[in-house]
Amino acid sequence: MRRIGVLTSGGDAPGMNAAIRAVVRHALGRKLEVIGIRRGYAGLLAGELQPLTRAGVANILQRGGTILGTSRSEEFRTKEGRARAAAVLRGAAIEGLVVIGGEGTFHGASLLGEEQAVAVAGVPGTIDNDVYGTDFTIGFDTAINTALEAIDRIRDTAASHDRLFFVEVMGRTSGEIALGVGVAGGAEDVLVSDTATDLEALAAEVRQSWQRGKRSSIVVVAERGEPGRVFRLAEEVRVLTQLEPRVGVLGHIQRGGTPTARDRILASKLGAAAVDILLDGGGTMAAEAGGKVVRVPLEDTWAKRRELPADLLALVRDLA
Ligand code: F6P
Repeated sequence: MRRIGVLTSGGDAPGMNAAIRAVVRHALGRKLEVIGIRRGYAGLLAGELQPLTRAGVANILQRGGTILGTSRSEEFRTKEGRARAAAVLRGAAIEGLVVIGGEGTFHGASLLGEEQAVAVAGVPGTIDNDVYGTDFTIGFDTAINTALEAIDRIRDTAASHDRLFFVEVMGRTSGEIALGVGVAGGAEDVLVSDTATDLEALAAEVRQSWQRGKRSSIVVVAERGEPGRVFRLAEEVRVLTQLEPRVGVLGHIQRGGTPTARDRILASKLGAAAVDILLDGGGTMAAEAGGKVVRVPLEDTWAKRRELPADLLALVRDLA
């Protein structure tokens, strides 16, 4: 193998740049050339390629977002699209591809590997922490710390006004951000799903805690692919409790910013490991499990579901 490509795909995540840097520098040290592919799979299909040098990835370790840009490509979801992408790679003599992204990215990557015999290695990069096989995804730690800072500020005003607050955090298919922030931010509850039972139980809990003398509470709501669903849930709880809740939606603020040390370290380890995966033929994602770098079959990363840590939800309620 003489030349590899690297791209970032799906929602950007703090630490993706640290992963790009690790891929480039680890690869150059192994006599591989590295081509950066702009705008994820969409840019690959459009042939947006640029050589990456050691100096070209200097001073990006600490920057949020992704210097390569990212996208969600509809065309790459089709077999024809993936065949065209493989032709672009072959035309540029790129023999292996590192993809940095989430489960959607890996679904496409594993199909590209199977259908077109392209060597692919994955690096889990998404704030959602919803990829099977890795304890943490790159960007999650930064995102929950950002959300936590916002929640601490909301707590100041909630306590001053004796208010119940609902705060919505990101997470398209998963409640991992909500649970992490809920525990660390001392939430009254975390609404991962929105069953009537959850809302009634929450309303009863809030009424009881108000009777005990509590005067402010924060409920964290997972977005679950419906940005703004928190307004609907807060209204239902208003009707049930007769309290006048306030609502905050953190949104894309959680996706930006300087990556934490933890995310930079994880990104550096997994970026380097992904290059080694390619040298061994590809087909897996570099992951961290129990503090060790491991390899997870790409297919498992999207075909298997990651369990939500239910113990964290119980802990939030226990400590409220
Ligand atoms: O997957 C990362 C994520 O930030 C999700 O938490 C969120 O639901 C989604 O991306 C938002 O995507 P977009 O930036 O396309 O609106």
